Amino acid sequence: MSSKNIITVLEDGPLQLEGDFHIYDTIGQLVEHEEQAMLCRCGASKIKPLCDGSHETVGFKDCCQIDSRHDESPEVHTTLVVSCRPNGMLVAKGPMTIMGPDGHSKAVRNKAALCRCGESRNKPFCDVSHKKVGFVDDALGSETETDVL
Ligand code: FES
Repeated sequence: MSSKNIITVLEDGPLQLEGDFHIYDTIGQLVEHEEQAMLCRCGASKIKPLCDGSHETVGFKDCCQIDSRHDESPEVHTTLVVSCRPNGMLVAKGPMTIMGPDGHSKAVRNKAALCRCGESRNKPFCDVSHKKVGFVDDALGSETETDVL
């Protein structure tokens, strides 16, 4: 079964969110958005967590094979909450279907850690590469990140 909250992984680009969702930035402030929101996953946006098109400038590449080995049964429909960990991952909590751009590759989750530094080897999921590459969210400078879901 799929969720009404859809995260589509766009090829060589951002995560597209649709459905019932809220996004919080690294300091816990609600991010305003339209019916859809585009979240940066290349690490280069100047308006994180949103995409500003910088993925094209930096030549971000990802062909979006989605690992569905850890599929879960979606909870009763509730709001999907996406929070930015300081200098780290995006944490999504709530029912969601994560779709590849082909519409076939997908995963169903109630909780997911998503890459926003652009360096994970398991995109769109986080593999903690942000630590290795020293990812910095410009809004925060050098504050420490935490990786607890
Ligand atoms: S994915 Fe678009 S600016 Fe990063």
